[in-house]
Amino acid sequence: MMRHRVALPVGLALVLVAALASAGSIRVKMHDLHGEGGVPPGWKFTLPAGDPAKGKEVFAALECYSCHIVEGQGFPDKATDKTGPQLTGMGVHHPAEYFAEAVLDPNAVIVEDAPEWVGADGRSTMPSYNDAMTLEQWINLVAYLKSLGGGGMPGPEAAGGGHEVRGGHDMHAGHEMHGPVRDKTVGEYRVRLDYTEPEAENRPGLLAVSITDAASGHAIPYLPVRARIALGKKARTVSLAPVIGSEGLRYAAAVAVPDEADSVTVLVGAATVRVESAERGKYRTPRQVSFEW
Ligand code: HEC
Repeated sequence: MMRHRVALPVGLALVLVAALASAGSIRVKMHDLHGEGGVPPGWKFTLPAGDPAKGKEVFAALECYSCHIVEGQGFPDKATDKTGPQLTGMGVHHPAEYFAEAVLDPNAVIVEDAPEWVGADGRSTMPSYNDAMTLEQWINLVAYLKSLGGGGMPGPEAAGGGHEVRGGHDMHAGHEMHGPVRDKTVGEYRVRLDYTEPEAENRPGLLAVSITDAASGHAIPYLPVRARIALGKKARTVSLAPVIGSEGLRYAAAVAVPDEADSVTVLVGAATVRVESAERGKYRTPRQVSFEW
């Protein structure tokens, strides 16, 4: 009896030690490996961690920017939304393995409602890079793509994991979800605008703005926030109220933003609470930032 009581925790500790020693590896018995169609239970293709800084060099050297806009990264301004999807802030929207596949086989997933990205032969216009980079460059490039965005604001992928999006051709819902990325830094704020289309026409959608400290990534509450929606000579200004949800604290309003709108400008007033003196005038100056629609 006594022996058992002691043996159990020791066994457990050994298992833990083994798990720590082999972090990153799956240990499996031959029998289990073959029992599940040739993969360990729960297995998923996983790319090793890479170096985003080196990946950025690869992105520049291979001139990926000639087709993909990546705002704020200092690449030459060559791409448009017609040459390829914007990759600004893209890291939070897809798992690493999705990026890996997008580079390895651009035809694995074709976005049906973006015909400008597909050639006459129905295939992706993105060239193959399979003889242009080493595996190490590929891994670093993916680490770089995965690092784009983030900024403390989790995207849909962080909540749902990436498993279900991989490989399928039925992933357009995911693409519509992020749409164009509207994310800019103004003064001390990083401002990100999201618009969820209404379920039925003539109904309001949800205009939501995340405002985080550009340096720390923390969401900033207690700001008076308005949005000005401009369409031709007309403009309409709505007040946004703080809401809490899976995206953390955001400022939002139920409002219809028509596709034809020219721009949405976010107007941030001075914080309505006292700001710690150590912050030296932060959160006091009204700021505004415009996003093309
Ligand atoms: C000639 C233009 C062109 C070049 C150059 C190019 N791409 Fe693309 N890329 C596209 C197009 C078009 C798509 C969309 C169709 C598709 O998925 O292949 C795309 C898709 C992607 C996607 C998937 C984006 C998403 O949201 O699904 C990633 C990631 C990507 N490219 C990365 C790269 C990287 C990294 C390079 C450089 C090594 C590169 N591209 C070079 C045109 C290009």
